[in-house]
Amino acid sequence: MRFVEIIEKKREGHALTKEEIHFWISKYVEDKIPDYQVSALCMAIYFQGMNADEIAWLTDEMLHSGDIIDLSSIPGIKADKHSTGGVGDKTSLALAPMVAACGLKVAKMSGRGLGHTGGTLDKVESIEGFKIALDEEAFKKQVEEIGLAIIGQTKSLVPADKKLYALRDVTGTVNSIPLIASSIMSKKLASGSDTILLDVKFGEGAFMKTPEDAQLLASTMISIGKKLGRDTRAIITNMNQPLGNAIGNALEVKEAIATLHDEGPEDFKQLCMQAGALMLLQGKVCRTKEEALELLQENISNGKAFQKLVDMVKAQGGNTEQILHPDMLPQATYVTEIPSKQEGYIRELHALEFGNLAMEIGAGRRVKEDTIDYAAGIVLHKKDGDYVKLNDSLASVHSNQKLDEEWIQHFYQCFEYSNENVEKTPLIYKTVE
Ligand code: URA
Repeated sequence: MRFVEIIEKKREGHALTKEEIHFWISKYVEDKIPDYQVSALCMAIYFQGMNADEIAWLTDEMLHSGDIIDLSSIPGIKADKHSTGGVGDKTSLALAPMVAACGLKVAKMSGRGLGHTGGTLDKVESIEGFKIALDEEAFKKQVEEIGLAIIGQTKSLVPADKKLYALRDVTGTVNSIPLIASSIMSKKLASGSDTILLDVKFGEGAFMKTPEDAQLLASTMISIGKKLGRDTRAIITNMNQPLGNAIGNALEVKEAIATLHDEGPEDFKQLCMQAGALMLLQGKVCRTKEEALELLQENISNGKAFQKLVDMVKAQGGNTEQILHPDMLPQATYVTEIPSKQEGYIRELHALEFGNLAMEIGAGRRVKEDTIDYAAGIVLHKKDGDYVKLNDSLASVHSNQKLDEEWIQHFYQCFEYSNENVEKTPLIYKTVE
């Protein structure tokens, strides 16, 4: 088989066979096909797409390119969730303890952030001592004993995706539904959980710009999951503005803790409740959504959800004092209030730009090698639909360097105002099963 013929076939819009996809992935992982040829194929896929069979074969090939975690020794249904990434997305930090407190077992492998989006691993690492590298046995033991673990993906998990994703990142081929779906689902399937809940985001801070594209991505991933016998469902959510108020690692841990005390922002709590209810239905902990929502609220109110977070942090070597007293989490030298220069209703908040602004003051990485400033970030005081008076504080900016004028001007450009009353945009667009 000659790889150039596979590239030409896809370039002309034809479907690839199972054998051709096997040849591509197996030889690429063995370094027998050069990056420049694979980038040409990814670009052909970007323009021509793939059919359902091709996507399923690609996912299966990627899934089998490395180790597959077997969680069957842990009794009960094991649940996982995945977000396609966004700004201020700290959902796992609150949602996982909430559902674990209700009796579901959560075995979660997370990633790091790059660019304007944050990653769960970076957020948990803002807790002193928190270990994200547990071996498979320790991971399983913790899930069995306390019902919850959040760790990093092991090096041997889906090596094909590690190579492919790094290549797509620098060749303009990330935003392709078949490539995103196979990348995400191969990792979720290799992580071994029985159920998968996908939070597929749309909007300017997300890979998918419209709810229709997000729904298409969700349906593609759901059909892959179902083909491989996993209960896979999705929630489609709006990422046109940051989720919750906090953007930045330690600040987001604090917001997740506040949410577990039922004192967090309403939009973020609603997402955790709706996603949590779906996970409890998938895990057969509850039979109806109403019952699930009630159980989640009960476990927030009685403190058990918060206690699960403490248990997980303790089990993974983290400093639980920082969870019990969030002011002990990393603190920035400067906290600058940014006053509004105009009055009106907030019509739009540019999520992508807030992500970039947070990255510029150290909360994220421009390139993989950058180090993170855990204390840095932004806490918004106004979201869409809110009325702002002159000099009201729009946000507190936490930084270890003084903010320069250019940064502040860029910050102001993230807000669009209206003189007319503006309705808050709903966060949850729909659920897909
Ligand atoms: N996240 C992934 O893991 N893969 C993609 O392709 C895009 C987002």
